[in-house]
Amino acid sequence: RWSHSPAAALSGLNAVTEEDLAHFSKILPSSAIISTLSPSATPSSELEPFNNDWMNKYHGKSTTVLKPRTTQEVSEIVKWCNQRRIGIVPQGGNTGLVGGSVPVRDELILSLANMSKIRSFDDVSGILVADAGCILQSLSDFLVPHNHIVPLDLGAKGRQHFNNSCQIGGNVSTNAGGLRLLRYGSLHGTVLGLEVVLPDGTILDQLTSLRKDNTGYDLKQLFIGAEGTLGVVTGVSILAAPAPQASNNVMLALPKFENVLPLFKETKRQLSEILSAFEFMDRTVYDLAVKHGQGRALDPADVEGAECFVLVETSGGKREHDEEKLNSLLESLMEADEPLINTGVLATSPAQFSALWAIREGLTEAVSKEGKAYKYDISVPLHKFKEVVDKTREQLRQKGLLHDDAVRHVVGYGHVGDGNLHLNVVAAAYTPEIEAALEPFVYELVASYKGSISAEHGIGVMKTHALQYSKSPTSIEWMKRIKALFDPNGIMNPGKVLP
Ligand code: FAD
Ligand code: MLT
Ligand code: ZN
Repeated sequence: RWSHSPAAALSGLNAVTEEDLAHFSKILPSSAIISTLSPSATPSSELEPFNNDWMNKYHGKSTTVLKPRTTQEVSEIVKWCNQRRIGIVPQGGNTGLVGGSVPVRDELILSLANMSKIRSFDDVSGILVADAGCILQSLSDFLVPHNHIVPLDLGAKGRQHFNNSCQIGGNVSTNAGGLRLLRYGSLHGTVLGLEVVLPDGTILDQLTSLRKDNTGYDLKQLFIGAEGTLGVVTGVSILAAPAPQASNNVMLALPKFENVLPLFKETKRQLSEILSAFEFMDRTVYDLAVKHGQGRALDPADVEGAECFVLVETSGGKREHDEEKLNSLLESLMEADEPLINTGVLATSPAQFSALWAIREGLTEAVSKEGKAYKYDISVPLHKFKEVVDKTREQLRQKGLLHDDAVRHVVGYGHVGDGNLHLNVVAAAYTPEIEAALEPFVYELVASYKGSISAEHGIGVMKTHALQYSKSPTSIEWMKRIKALFDPNGIMNPGKVLP
């Protein structure tokens, strides 16, 4: 076992002082500095949204947030911090779910929020180049008149309130998967280039907009999913996809979990190139979504007897063609001798289409409204999805923790198409007893299926001690060497990712 003491990673690092602040004031205007150390004495409440994560599970004690506007400003700040051995936490939309985006102690928070310019878009190649701080939804909105879409979509994309708007730099840094990875693939494929400020302040300009570039080591891949431990991503070049000319979705109610895999197989076979999402949710999490007002509840008759649901989306080039395929899939499913589904609720208007997606995209929020969520974002073989949820529930029952004052629900949802299950344990409070019942239990279970302890959310501070369940000692050793090579002083997001 690795010891779990992220704060140890901060030994040898210094806190921000008034002298540092005076230096930052030469780089940035006062409006771009929030600090309790400043002469104007910002109230610490202004730092709270930056010091606390989306789930309100991880809490930092930073005194200072800097919001640079340009790559040059980022470079000057990072260079100073490196000389002064000040830890830096790069922060995007702060929607990360593993505690990576908030300080372990009092590191400086470098927010990318003021870097939100779209640099260029080529509507022939589909290549979009943007500042890292661009909100994902803003990029989507920008691309609409250009008939393109960002090849990534997730529930945190919106701009409703501060704490749920992810940025493209954060997406790249977590290698976010999202709702349509099945169709558009991972960011390791769609990101064409990056601009990164390295830990000594050097600007690494790899912002190429080439589809093909085989000139040796592909350094940008190291920063995709590095969670801010190797440098600050300041610019992203990404391949946007042509906007589908027709999109449909349908919520399928299944009598039993065992039908999910045959349904996936049949759906892939019949819909082939137009299938763009296949998202699973169990009955309990669907009920939580309804209870907490996410989307519009299905009719009681459509839900009756359902053990779980699957949201299927198609995206294609010709409405009649796509509708014909989807309708014939639904007919064949309903008319089979042993139907795989009870019912299918097909969206017949853009409003219904959005309402069905709102159920799925609202699961994270519903779970958070219900209680404190222990979130395990794992890759396991598809046929083990239910077993993992059931075994975890049983473990908590055996430990006497399955009751309203401790664990309220154990639920599963996720991206079936990608083999990614979100196992969520919803509790009345975060307690050491629940954590001890869940860890290493869940990680050992995942390892027994040769799965991954993080399919898409990353390691952050939550799973540093568990990395060895998914990475060999040799892999971890080489990860540490890479970290030491880029960041010998250990200033970049200390206490994250590596044990
Ligand atoms: P932050 O949370 O600010 O940061 C995340 C990590 O990246 C931190 O380690 C931070 O230090 C680092 N970082 C951020 N910006 C930079 C930068 N410019 N340079 C270097 N490092 C940086 N994830 C999925 O994969 N799929 C989903 O479907 C999904 N859905 C979600 C739905 C909801 C409602 C929520 C709240 C979260 C969801 N997530 C999902 C989690 C996910 O990781 C993020 O939402 C997103 O990718 C993080 O982006 P962000 O800008 O908020 O980054
Ligand atoms: C999702 O798929 O909804 C996200 O990854 C967030 C979550 O796990 O809750
Ligand atoms: Zn997910």
